[in-house]
Parts: sequence; structure tokens; C-alpha cells
Amino acid sequence: MSPSSSVPVLTIDGPSGSGKGTISRRVAETLGWRLLDSGALYRAVGYAAGMEGLDLSDAEAVTRCAQTTKIRFQAAADGGDTHVLVNGHDATDELRTETAGAAASAIASIPSVRQALVDMQLGFRKAPGLVADGRDMGTVIFPEAPFKVFLTASAAERAKRRYKQLKEKGLGVTLATLQREIEARDARDASRTVAPLKPAADAVFIDTTGMGIDEVVAKVLAVVQS
Ligand code: DC
Repeated sequence: MSPSSSVPVLTIDGPSGSGKGTISRRVAETLGWRLLDSGALYRAVGYAAGMEGLDLSDAEAVTRCAQTTKIRFQAAADGGDTHVLVNGHDATDELRTETAGAAASAIASIPSVRQALVDMQLGFRKAPGLVADGRDMGTVIFPEAPFKVFLTASAAERAKRRYKQLKEKGLGVTLATLQREIEARDARDASRTVAPLKPAADAVFIDTTGMGIDEVVAKVLAVVQS
């Protein structure tokens, strides 16, 4: 047993727009645990591959990119959102766009790309605990985690949440386009052969449609504190 295997992990999986990001951050802050935003790793590789002009379906080239891209998370000095540095460049804003999400989803279907990111993800498991946010945290990366949650919400509600977020950031999108993109990404993430988006058999399933953030945070905390 490695020393890190005694460190508790709470996995929070679910589709895009299920509120995972916000909920994971709030829960990690409350527990004083570390946070792994695994989607940011896939977004960073997709972004780096794009910067290198790679064809995102070229498995060999993108895998090499995943193995060599340097990804660093840096806490913001003002206590705001964590910044993501990709090969030394602050790509925080670029990584949030729908284009980056679509690129991440595309490269995430390549098994050797997923494999290249495993050790980095396991490395986040450090005392006093880890909240791991993603698609396959409870099924593949931390299958023996003591606490597992699967968050979801209807596609219409997820599109609305994402629309509000992007609007606040001044990014121009329409609700209908967003909902179409979300449904397309869900279908791709759920149908891929390797690590598809699905709840772990032992995960607590929470449908957040119509629920406020505080209510969801309380439900997730209850899983750890039960
Ligand atoms: O959570 P997110 O929207 O930042 O994730 C972006 C994409 O990365 C998502 O469409 C699928 C992929 N992803 C994945 O395959 N496995 C993870 N653990 C996290 C994200």
C-alpha cells in the first residue's frame, strides 16, 4: 500500500454543467482538502495540442503532447479562481471557453492520452484529503475512494447555468447553441469506450435540477460526514 492510499478521497463525477466545479471547490474549502480539477488537465492538453497545430485525432502526436505538456495550478494572489499555467503560459481564460471544452472532450477519448495523465492525477492525493472532480474519478482513477458522488442535472438546466456563467464573463453565446453543444459533448463522453462518463456503482447519485448551490454542498458534505 502506498502512503497516499490512507488519505481520504471524495470523488465528484458528472457531466458538464452539473455544478461539479463550483460544488467541488466549495466542498474542498469547507473540508480543508486539496482539489483536483481533472477537466482542466484535459482542457490544457487540448489547448497545448491546438497551439502546436496538431490534428486532434492524431493519437500519437496528441499523446506525446499529453506526456510533455507542463501543467501547473497556481492559487490566485487575491483568493480568486486558481490559475492554470500551460507550458508556463497563463491559459486560465482560454481553457474556460466552449472551444477548449470541445477540444478536451475530443482528446479525452484517446486511451493513451488518458493513461498519460493518470500519475499526475494520483499525485494530488495528499493529506489531509482530496476532492477529485471529473468524469472517471470514482470509476477509474480512485476506484477505492471511500466517498463518491455523481452529480447531474437536466441538459436544459445545465445549458442555462453555463449560459449565465459565460454571459457574466462577457462571452457571446446563445442558449440553444449551448444546449446543443452540451448534449453533443455528453453523448461523446458517455459513449467512448475508455473511461466513459457513468456513475460508479457505489456513488451517491444527486440530481441537482432546481437545487441551489448551498443545498447541493450540504448534501455532498453529508456523504463525507455520514
Ligand atoms: O469538466 P470539464 O468540462 O472541464 O471537462 C472537459 C472535458 O474533459 C470533458 O468534456 C471530458 C473530459 N474529461 C474527461 O474525459 N475525464 C475527466 N476526468 C475530466 C474531463
